[in-house]
Amino acid sequence: MPQTAPTARTRIGVVGAGAVGTSLAYAAMIRGAAQEIALYDLDADRVRAEALDLAHGTMFTGGARVTGSDDVAVLAGADVVVVTAGAKQRPGQTRMDLAAANAAILGSLLPRLLEQAPDAVYVLVTNPCDVLTVVARRISGLPAGRVLASGTVLDTSRLRWLLAEEAGVATGSVHATIVGEHGDSEFPLWSSATIGQVPLREWTVDGRRPFDEQHLAALAERVVGAAYEVIAGKGATNYAIGLAGVRVVEAVLRDEHAVLPVSTVLEDYHGISGVALSVPSVVARPGVVGLPPVPMDAQELTLLRRSAQAIRATLASIGH
Ligand code: 2OP
Repeated sequence: MPQTAPTARTRIGVVGAGAVGTSLAYAAMIRGAAQEIALYDLDADRVRAEALDLAHGTMFTGGARVTGSDDVAVLAGADVVVVTAGAKQRPGQTRMDLAAANAAILGSLLPRLLEQAPDAVYVLVTNPCDVLTVVARRISGLPAGRVLASGTVLDTSRLRWLLAEEAGVATGSVHATIVGEHGDSEFPLWSSATIGQVPLREWTVDGRRPFDEQHLAALAERVVGAAYEVIAGKGATNYAIGLAGVRVVEAVLRDEHAVLPVSTVLEDYHGISGVALSVPSVVARPGVVGLPPVPMDAQELTLLRRSAQAIRATLASIGH
């Protein structure tokens, strides 16, 4: 009888069983993103309990196998490793304030992760994720496309939600993207934003155009402030970042070639090199496989350079 080769099971490794890591694992389970989800955390009791709690829901999901351990070997053979471990932003802190602490944590973690999952695509969620992407790339020596951050995928979702609410359309019909640093210097690409086929600035509601310059500036500010707003109210953000992280993982595991604003170390992108920033990127099984040239107006280019400078300054401040 002809033998059929067993199909490889898709496996996500999640580093950190805190609010973000567990929300991400939960989202991965519900969305059926992979057949195996492995959680790793230093806190043995916590990670076992989180994995157990997730596994108890298997009857209601796609049947992913969930495991959790304080032994890093739990991540062995992962196709994608998502890093969520590290100090989290407290009220009043910026993401950049976490750079030194989280770069040190990543520096000790990454070699051990690479031993377990040498062929994985690495997705950084821990903040400041752009800075940590540069650090991870340097430590690992992996190709730029295999080390990415979820970056402004989350901020883009926040923006599209806001615009959709105001325009009275489905979020999926809004085509607008936040680029740059996942942080205070991020900004929307208004010049190419559309709702359906209609340029955003020309969209009408009850015969008037709501998206004038003043209103767009206010919306951009709301997106930049969104995480601060949530952190002030509940101490952390977790659900939306969990979903955003899983969306990136899915694009990798399904070899989607999806265009998502993830962050990778850029090489001569609009003249920017050596820093990681989110720009529309083609995400597939090997990681980021292309950076389609995106038209930007003069103001957007200025803002992109400002974001690059912010990342560079933080890297320098922590000795990288
Ligand atoms: C967020 O934007 C804090 O980076 C996290 O939700």
